[in-house]
Amino acid sequence: MKKKIRITLNGNVVSPEVPAHRLLLDLLRDEIGLTGTKEGCGTGDCGACTVLLDGKPVNSCLVLSGELDGADIVTIEGLQIGRELHPIQQAFIQDGGAQCGYCTPGMLMMSKALLDENPNPTEEEIRFALAGNLCRCTGYAKIVKAVQDAAMELRTRHTARQ
Ligand code: FES
Ligand code: FES
Repeated sequence: MKKKIRITLNGNVVSPEVPAHRLLLDLLRDEIGLTGTKEGCGTGDCGACTVLLDGKPVNSCLVLSGELDGADIVTIEGLQIGRELHPIQQAFIQDGGAQCGYCTPGMLMMSKALLDENPNPTEEEIRFALAGNLCRCTGYAKIVKAVQDAAMELRTRHTARQ
């Protein structure tokens, strides 16, 4: 049975009709066409499908669409600021934090959630926050460096605005 839900997706209100059992990951990719969010394991173990749900990171492969009425969802397509890449995206490019790129959308969304909560995380805190996001390419050092650099850039921007 289908259910109409109303969600805010990357700042826009949309009202898809979804089977109650449709996973958020499949809704995003297959029905709405936002394919930036990736499927790795499909079982909540790799973090590739991470999106923000009401500001908190979730594995979209584990979330049922039918329960999302009224939710605010941000995917990798909603991360950039206006026409500019988000500082986290810029730092991943600058520091070589992405190789094949498959894990990258999930890494970026998890990093965004971390820096929203903690603007100045230690290396240990970054590694802990990203522990559920698996990367088969980079060895993680460049990812951690990218998050540190993004944090510094965001703090600098914040200070400049005050
Ligand atoms: S695809 Fe969702 S956690 Fe791996
Ligand atoms: S960059 Fe290839 S899996 Fe992370």
